[in-house]
Amino acid sequence: MPEEFRVTPWEVTGDIDYDRLQTQFGTTPIDDALKARLEKYGPLHPMIRRGIFYSHRDLDVLLDRYDKGGDFVLYTGRGPSGNTHLGHIMPWMLNKWVQDTFKVDMLFQMTDDEKFLFKEKLDLKDTTSMAYENALDFVALGFDPKRTRIILNTKNIDRLYPIALRVSKKVTFSTAKAVFGFDESTHIGQIFYTTLQSVPAFLPTEENGRQVPVIIPCGIDQDPHFRVTRDVAPGLGYPKPTMLYCKMFPGLSGADKMSSSDENATIYTTDSPKAVKKKVGRAFTGGRVSVEEQRQLGGNPEVCAVFKYNYYLFEPDDEKVNELATKCRNGEILCGECKMCLVERINVFLEGHQDRREKARDVVADMTYDGFEW
Ligand code: TRP
Repeated sequence: MPEEFRVTPWEVTGDIDYDRLQTQFGTTPIDDALKARLEKYGPLHPMIRRGIFYSHRDLDVLLDRYDKGGDFVLYTGRGPSGNTHLGHIMPWMLNKWVQDTFKVDMLFQMTDDEKFLFKEKLDLKDTTSMAYENALDFVALGFDPKRTRIILNTKNIDRLYPIALRVSKKVTFSTAKAVFGFDESTHIGQIFYTTLQSVPAFLPTEENGRQVPVIIPCGIDQDPHFRVTRDVAPGLGYPKPTMLYCKMFPGLSGADKMSSSDENATIYTTDSPKAVKKKVGRAFTGGRVSVEEQRQLGGNPEVCAVFKYNYYLFEPDDEKVNELATKCRNGEILCGECKMCLVERINVFLEGHQDRREKARDVVADMTYDGFEW
């Protein structure tokens, strides 16, 4: 029996079998041929090369259109429910690559409504105010301020609501139950929410008065929402969004997804160098019980959180990352040394990011959709 795991937009548990998830959801692998095709537009992003962004829907359709001179818009989002951590910014980095490579406009949706509806303890004023802090992290990654707009659902609702209504009329309760596992006790706010996540996929078409598709790079846990979006699109006269899906960013504890519910295994963008050192120091590794054993038998990078961090984000050079794996397997490098290296890399990144994050305060006001005020 394969191990049980569960991936929904609100809950990720167990050891995720990403191939099986792809089959369950019905998405398509990003294979070598597609990677080779992508390489024609510019150097491939390491996350695509390494199979972290590994699955898609209709990427080929979008590229065919682009090759013929057709435009598209980039769309991703964030539900503001707390501080931003590395798992959040990982997919945003790929979004930045898409913007730079294809020179496209971008919509970033902040779903303060969603987090209010789905997090028992959060009030709406909490989620709305958290959005600002989260937006700083997004802006700090260097999105083009002229081409990028941040949507905040409760602030932009006048623009979103007409489209949300049209979507809602096409989605039955029975579909919502089947897709999201809702039942009779689910409150109706949750049932309606998915319509709002669909809207930015259709906004570019509405605004331009012609078909403008979007590409949505995000975690594969969001697929249930976008299955609904894609299903209703043709009936409403909108193009189906193209999806680009990544695996979840692992936690330091060895869990498959970094999660704010385990603060010690989560690196926030505002963490101090000391906090990073402490958290990485406690990370789950593939090391042996003693130095002697490790020198003799070697470690196991496959299960090691420290190795995964290098693989996902902090060692973009393929040769070097392979060398690290080999050294670990051969017992040439011990966990302490490896952890110190990672601490250094994370801290160098965070130092720059925190600086850019402060500077973002000056531009974030000009990047709001429809000019809303924070
Ligand atoms: N539901 C997402 C979350 O919980 C937020 C979100 C809204 C999103 N629109 C999106 C994520 C588009 C990815 C792509 O964080």
